[in-house]
Amino acid sequence: MRFENTGVLITGAGSGIGRAASLAFAEEGAAVAAAALQLESAQATASAVEASGGKAVGLQVDVTQPDSARALVERAVAGLGSLDVLINSAGVREIVPFLELPAAEWLKVIGTNLTGTFLCSQAVARHLIAQHKSGKIINLASVAGLVGVPNRAAYVASKHGVVGLTKEMGMELADKHIQVNAIAPGVVETAMTAGYFDNPAIVASLKKAHPAGRWAQPEEIARLMLFLASEDADFMTGATIPIDGGFVAGKAI
Ligand SMILES: NC(=O)c1ccc[n+]([C@@H]2O[C@H](COP(=O)([O-])OP(=O)(O)OC[C@H]3O[C@@H](n4cnc5c(N)ncnc54)[C@H](O)[C@@H]3O)[C@@H](O)[C@H]2O)c1
Repeated sequence: MRFENTGVLITGAGSGIGRAASLAFAEEGAAVAAAALQLESAQATASAVEASGGKAVGLQVDVTQPDSARALVERAVAGLGSLDVLINSAGVREIVPFLELPAAEWLKVIGTNLTGTFLCSQAVARHLIAQHKSGKIINLASVAGLVGVPNRAAYVASKHGVVGLTKEMGMELADKHIQVNAIAPGVVETAMTAGYFDNPAIVASLKKAHPAGRWAQPEEIARLMLFLASEDADFMTGATIPIDGGFVAGKAI
């Protein structure tokens, strides 16, 4: 049990990677604040954690809103007693050609993926520093934070931004004993990618794009988070770790 007496706040916890992370951290003894845009889905994840013997609270948040992000951190501290780890898993993605991308959609994707990560991280880092505590922040980047992917201009820009923000926070918070790292998954089977898997042409191209010949399950991403949040990763900060079946290692010819 690596995370007894550890409070973990997870955004985007109503589904996908954030939900899997909530269950994985709770299984290792953490108290989890599962935060989601819809309160019902946050509470559903918290109930699933409790049903498997863990401790959790479900909280509502809109990570694009500064007041909401600040209030989330206050409520997480009140609900958990102690807050030590933040997982920024809230995210959205468009599939629209660059030339047709509406400004409103650009702003929504950047606002959720990049500004949301900034707002939640700043609120948690300020809390940790005020409490003279060390901590870990783990951001969800993507392979789309390392290379371009067609028809995802806002998503790719936001995730490259997350990689940069992770470096910056890693540097500025290192002497405060707060380590900040990002994870860059290839395709993971979640609500975000649900439309991919019943389309044989997309399935074939996904298998080609990932040299491992498959996509990932959310639990595989959660296991990397457990490592990054543990004291085994105390000397890692500002890094982005691909977990992508070889997606960014090279191109097939
Ligand atoms: N699924 C993949 O293939 C994949 C690959 C690489 C990176 N990621 C990243 O992993 C993270 C989790 O995605 P997922 O695959 O679990 O998808 P998902 O759609 O299941 O989860 C994303 C969650 O973010 C929530 N969210 C959206 N806007 C929000 C807001 N304003 N405030 C609070 N919550 C909000 C959604 O409600 C949803 O529950 C995202 O950042 C995504 O970009 C996913």
